[in-house]
Amino acid sequence: MNAATISSPTIVLPALPYEESALQPVISANTLAFHYGKHHRTYVDTLNKLIIGTEFGDMPLQKIVQATAGKPDLVAIFHNAAQAWNHTFYWRSLKPKGGGEPPATLKRLMESSFGSVAACKKELTKAAVEEFGSGWAWLVQDGEKLKIVKTDDANSPLSQGSKALLTIDVWEHAYYLDYQNRRVDYVNAVLDKLINWEFAAENLGR
Ligand code: FE2
Repeated sequence: MNAATISSPTIVLPALPYEESALQPVISANTLAFHYGKHHRTYVDTLNKLIIGTEFGDMPLQKIVQATAGKPDLVAIFHNAAQAWNHTFYWRSLKPKGGGEPPATLKRLMESSFGSVAACKKELTKAAVEEFGSGWAWLVQDGEKLKIVKTDDANSPLSQGSKALLTIDVWEHAYYLDYQNRRVDYVNAVLDKLINWEFAAENLGR
């Protein structure tokens, strides 16, 4: 058997952009060990099993999400591909010593869209807390405007055709070990201490 005939996983689990302990005390190393090492890894591993030998076998992850969204016969591939993409985006939406002032370009858009940075954060918190069951809260760009959207389960702006700037995971596995049922405390702490406004600003206009 030569190298060309050895099948290898198409979709690779990206390394976390920081140590598992780097988001403490807001998110514990224990939560990240399960969330990244078990949940995210399982989405990637399951996806690779589902797509091997199919038309999706050579496709980039983002294209798999877009090609399978809204197709009932491909829902298993969609769920795992979307969750793989969402989690990579979530890790990059956070950083140690995050929060604080957004970069100037992003700040101007937040002010013109919501009135103030505080109002934008308030709306993001509201979406994250009110999302019923498992899902995601997103800051998205829609032309010259920023908007807050929430999505159920594995859905994202990517599968709805708009541009994601950052996200907060509000599945229980994201916070339950640290906050139990206090989702609002998790969301507030993430926004004040971990949110990566620079990542959101880098995504503007893409
Ligand atoms: Fe998650």
